[in-house]
Amino acid sequence: MKNVKKENYTSGYALITGATGGLGRAFANAIAKRRCNLLLTGRSEEKLIALKNELLEKYALNSVQIYAVDLTEEGGRYAFMERIRAAGYKIRLLVNAAGVDVQKALAEYTQEKIAFQCRVNFEAAVSLCRFTIEQRAERLEIVNISSVSGIYPMPYFAIYSATKAALTSFSVALREELKGKNAAVTAILPGAMPTREDIKEQIKGQGIWGKLAAKSPQSVAEYSLKAVGKNKAKVIVGFWNKCMRFTTAVLPQRWKLKFIAKRWSKISKDSF
Ligand SMILES: NC(=O)c1ccc[n+]([C@@H]2O[C@H](COP(=O)([O-])OP(=O)(O)OC[C@H]3O[C@@H](n4cnc5c(N)ncnc54)[C@H](OP(=O)(O)O)[C@@H]3O)[C@@H](O)[C@H]2O)c1
Repeated sequence: MKNVKKENYTSGYALITGATGGLGRAFANAIAKRRCNLLLTGRSEEKLIALKNELLEKYALNSVQIYAVDLTEEGGRYAFMERIRAAGYKIRLLVNAAGVDVQKALAEYTQEKIAFQCRVNFEAAVSLCRFTIEQRAERLEIVNISSVSGIYPMPYFAIYSATKAALTSFSVALREELKGKNAAVTAILPGAMPTREDIKEQIKGQGIWGKLAAKSPQSVAEYSLKAVGKNKAKVIVGFWNKCMRFTTAVLPQRWKLKFIAKRWSKISKDSF
């Protein structure tokens, strides 16, 4: 297969999940700036229409298609894929940004909420990777948005942390499967980003630590696309987050678990 320049996004489409969220929207803008046509998903048709209008006004794009779909529902997800297949859109870049960060003790979860979080954060991302391989343009790049929260097990944030660890592991493995096939996978591990109000409050509540670790969604999107251009397998976003990873790696697991449990047991959040 002929090699297409990695930075060239003008052929094919970029498919972005979670496009109506803070990071997804930042990716949509960063990719639109590179003149790549877009396939955008989120659950709210209203938010998607507003985003589409905004992008068409700001950038010289030929095509922005929107799909309101709940990615946890298999039927809806398959129908959404079928619409893309039938339209013949070829995917050059997939950004799996949809994600839900429920934070509480497992005992406080309903069974439905467990399935919901696992499906959005992991199952849907894997499912879209599979679909994209079939519906790919000549070159394919996949960006899976994981999190630094997946680096260590996190009591009271256990499901989120486990789904992100799974997504990182999956991304690295899939990258190997796609080697030599003009396709690449990059896992992005951001720290906190002030996207929603509850996250902004949480960052503020962490004082100087929160400030040091947080990055704007715009800078994370730009940094991620640069990492894709450099064909990176896995990147932790931000100097502070990289330092934390490096310095805490040598600490015994039981210390880390104790510290995380103490800190996180005080926080409970569920915006979904
Ligand atoms: N913000 C942070 O501090 C942070 C840190 C590390 C990693 N991350 C990861 O970065 C990604 C984006 O985070 P964010 O802060 O931008 O989140 P956000 O603003 O809450 O946006 C989440 C996006 O996911 C979509 N989504 C949620 N459930 C869905 C479902 N069932 N089906 C389809 N779409 C669904 C939402 O659509 P609706 O608009 O319809 O709800 C929204 O577009 C996530 O994967 C998150 O885990 C975030």
